Amino acid sequence: MPAITCIDDLKTLYRRRAPRMFYDYAESGSYTESTFRENCTDFQRIKLRQRVAVDMTGRTTKSTMIGQEMAMPVALAPVGMTGMQCADGEIKAARAARDFGVPYTLSTMSICSLEDVAEAVQAPFWFQLYVMRDQEFLEAIIERARRARCSALVLTLDLQILGQRHKDLKNGLSAPPKLTLPVLLDLATKWRWGIGMLRTKRRFFGNIVGHAKGVGDTSSLSSWTAEQFDPQLDWDKIARIRDLWGGKLILKGINDPEDARMAAGFGADAIIVSNHGGRQLDGAVSAIRMLPEIVQAVGDQVEIHLDSGIRSGQDVLKALALGAHAAHIGRAYIYGLGAMGEAGVTRALEIIRNELDVTMALCGERDVTALGRQNLLIPPDFL
Ligand code: FNR
Repeated sequence: MPAITCIDDLKTLYRRRAPRMFYDYAESGSYTESTFRENCTDFQRIKLRQRVAVDMTGRTTKSTMIGQEMAMPVALAPVGMTGMQCADGEIKAARAARDFGVPYTLSTMSICSLEDVAEAVQAPFWFQLYVMRDQEFLEAIIERARRARCSALVLTLDLQILGQRHKDLKNGLSAPPKLTLPVLLDLATKWRWGIGMLRTKRRFFGNIVGHAKGVGDTSSLSSWTAEQFDPQLDWDKIARIRDLWGGKLILKGINDPEDARMAAGFGADAIIVSNHGGRQLDGAVSAIRMLPEIVQAVGDQVEIHLDSGIRSGQDVLKALALGAHAAHIGRAYIYGLGAMGEAGVTRALEIIRNELDVTMALCGERDVTALGRQNLLIPPDFL
């Protein structure tokens, strides 16, 4: 196997090993994919200031998130159907995160259930919740998250209706995949994936199957989504969920200063500036470009995290220097998982930490918490 030296290498290997349907599911944005692309290209427009003759010994990437100590200010974002990228994918990603010392966020739409992950990992993790219409389901799943010892609830606010991803419709995305001729031909070369799937029983939506009506093995993701996600989500409903949960709360999917003000006044422990990795509002401004405005609006009131477009430690550094307290990665670790399972997630985290560490040194910084605008040349259209 060629040496894996960057996140892009993991992506190349992932493409070779994962079924095309699931690769496309991760590697796509909604509609024209303009926001999906700009999330990454806007990072490239921010330049770093090179400094020399600064003592670079004793560097640290250690930080905190919502009061919890972390090896670096990077979390694994919730990703639906992770257990289809690789058998037991959620358990493998959660183990890699635990051993590395960063948070793992389990998606509502995961294949392994809350209980599966809690039992296998034996350590706290975060749980991401989509607000469903079914009140009973909502109450039950919050209770399950509590029993699974989840140490934060990440409430996603930017997916009450699904932004269309053309590839998923064309591929007939489902979990597990329907074995049509094109799928079988594709799987013929993806033997590692096939063996993993034969060995595990976890092939359905573990948090949903048996709890919500109409979601079985053959359900199509998009029709179920359209039916269950609550289009009437408003701040009152969010407040009810906050009170029901009663623990640490992170609001995900904020990409506008007005929404950030609402969220900050609401008692959330953190907000995640995010456009869902370009999978929802196509044409939305990239998260990194919205970050300065949001930091200016509420940076002194609430902890601000960011995701969407991070593919390197340099990207993490830029987000932190622009005022984010932490960054979350989605695709960057999914590439690793689909390429090499648990070892691939660990590799993705190592790559990002090494890049962050070396880039800090070359910017003349020793402490990840001290990064700031002094490290950047910011394009004029960023605030
Ligand atoms: C996601 N994301 C997501 N978010 C969420 O709150 N719940 C979910 O179930 C999912 N599912 C999901 C699936 C896939 C395949 C992707 C790529 C993303 C969004 C995710 O948490 C995060 O916001 C983005 O992935 C961040 O962008 P990058 O890092 O992938 O560019």
